[in-house]
Amino acid sequence: MNHVHPNTPHHDVQQGRHQEHSTDGQAEILDLDAEVLAEHIASIAAWLPLNDGARRIVDLGCGTGAGTFALLDRFPEAHVTAVDASAEHLRHLRAKACARGLEERIRTVQADLDDRDWPDFGTTDLVWASASMHHMAHPDRALRNVRDLLAPGGLFAVVELAGFPRFLPEGAPEGRPGLEARCHAATDRLHVEHVPHRGADWGPMLIAAGFTVEGERTIAVDIDGSHSEAIGRYALGSLQRIRSAAAATLSTDDLAALDQLLDTASPHSILRRDDLGVRTERTAWAARRA
Ligand SMILES: C[S@@+](CC[C@H](N)C(=O)[O-])C[C@H]1O[C@@H](n2cnc3c(N)ncnc32)[C@H](O)[C@@H]1O
Repeated sequence: MNHVHPNTPHHDVQQGRHQEHSTDGQAEILDLDAEVLAEHIASIAAWLPLNDGARRIVDLGCGTGAGTFALLDRFPEAHVTAVDASAEHLRHLRAKACARGLEERIRTVQADLDDRDWPDFGTTDLVWASASMHHMAHPDRALRNVRDLLAPGGLFAVVELAGFPRFLPEGAPEGRPGLEARCHAATDRLHVEHVPHRGADWGPMLIAAGFTVEGERTIAVDIDGSHSEAIGRYALGSLQRIRSAAAATLSTDDLAALDQLLDTASPHSILRRDDLGVRTERTAWAARRA
């Protein structure tokens, strides 16, 4: 497959009759996630068992490029094909690539990975999918497609998250302690229905799809956010998304307390708190095409 320059209008390869995918505000959260968890993402990339390096990488569900840029850093010889359904995310990723002088090493492809047949991404040494596999409507089919696009001996890195990070201490906010846990319980109920593979154990599914799982690693993230403006904005954006998903199922008192936290003009705004942190887990599986 030809390398296409990201600055040209032709760079964004569109597959089929793909519709613009609505990602309302997700790009900012993904960028904040990448900024706040940069060390953790780099440490997963460093852990991958690829002693000879990787030259041809595909980042599936790349979003705004958290993994793409970490992998370019880890593998200096590599080119990355960054794939996502969202044209907006891909535009954003290309702008970042240009700003960093990395445009020659990245090609973006807009594609819906729920399609039965995937575009020809070319033969690949490493496929990376971070926080994207759980979105697949047919994970077994997607796993088989990944296996087919890997060169023999190629590696598939699946990275998944336990859920939205927690930002507030248990006793917060004053007057409605435990609010964040109740918000998470509400969104978890929705996820069970709409995103059933979030939090799944990918090991058995990888084996069933013909991979050998060479490693599994869970990273506990616990970052003190008391002095971080980015963590404040990350917490604000995440809770805004939780509100839009779960408002109807929260009690009136919880919703009022959540709205106070989200009101950036309020003295109770989450942006004014000095007790925030980021607590979550990421699990990575390194699977070899047999
Ligand atoms: C939670 S984000 C993760 C983004 C990125 N991998 C990261 O670690 O920051 C999930 C991404 O998967 C993409 N996605 C979800 N379903 C998809 C599909 N069927 N085909 C292609 N991309 C998809 C979304 O547009 C989004 O960018």
